[in-house]
Amino acid sequence: MTDWPLPLWIAHRGAGKLAPENTLAAFRVGASHGYRAFECDVKLSADGVPFLLHDATLDRTTPERGVAAERPWSELSRIDAGGWHSRAFAGEPLPSLDAVARYVQRNGFALNLEIKPTPGQEQHTGTVVGQACAQLWQGSEAPLLFSSFRPEALAGAREAAPLVPRALLVDTPWPGWFEMAQSLGCVAVVTHYSLMDASLIGRLQGAGLRALCYTVNDPAEARRLVGLGIDGLITDAVDRFSPDRTGVFD
Ligand code: G3P
Ligand code: MG
Repeated sequence: MTDWPLPLWIAHRGAGKLAPENTLAAFRVGASHGYRAFECDVKLSADGVPFLLHDATLDRTTPERGVAAERPWSELSRIDAGGWHSRAFAGEPLPSLDAVARYVQRNGFALNLEIKPTPGQEQHTGTVVGQACAQLWQGSEAPLLFSSFRPEALAGAREAAPLVPRALLVDTPWPGWFEMAQSLGCVAVVTHYSLMDASLIGRLQGAGLRALCYTVNDPAEARRLVGLGIDGLITDAVDRFSPDRTGVFD
């Protein structure tokens, strides 16, 4: 198997639901619970700056409305991405990928960067994120893994940053997903936890791919998956699952 960059436990969107998702404040909360690996979602501003946001629109996690990709970074960087969560995080900004890179590298943390393109910008987002990461992680020892539900995004990232490992995300299996993961040179497949069973883990690992799941918040599910030999668990429950106490689930 290829060198694998991530530990078993990965904090979803920084710290799950304990802090505003996809902000550096969330990463800090995740880190305070012992997490050393983080998943987050990256897309592009109108002027091509990679930054963290899950949804295509600003509606759910900011006071603004509309498609984020229609705004330049000079506007996006001034938006409050924390106040929606709780008063303690009011004023927390949307982080640029540059800022996230600095944070994880200075701390030696691993990053699972999910390329979450605004619809219609799949390949372009992969290319720009790949180019940015090739520069930002140059000479860094901090582990980095790209993932995406969108094969076009992974293809763009592969062309721009062939040395950064890739994973295909699968929510609902579609015809040819396994072959697509292989043809994209992926090192892993990350599925919704309900899809993962002994047969699928065996198929993936038998083909030299790592098997990961999202978003695992239930101790019984975590125990089941660890028992099957899962390679990675992406969780919101950073206050429940302790990466420092392997095997302790509640
Ligand atoms: O990368 C795993 C997980 O984050 C995928 O789902 O919607 O939370 O980005 P979502
Ligand atoms: Mg995600």
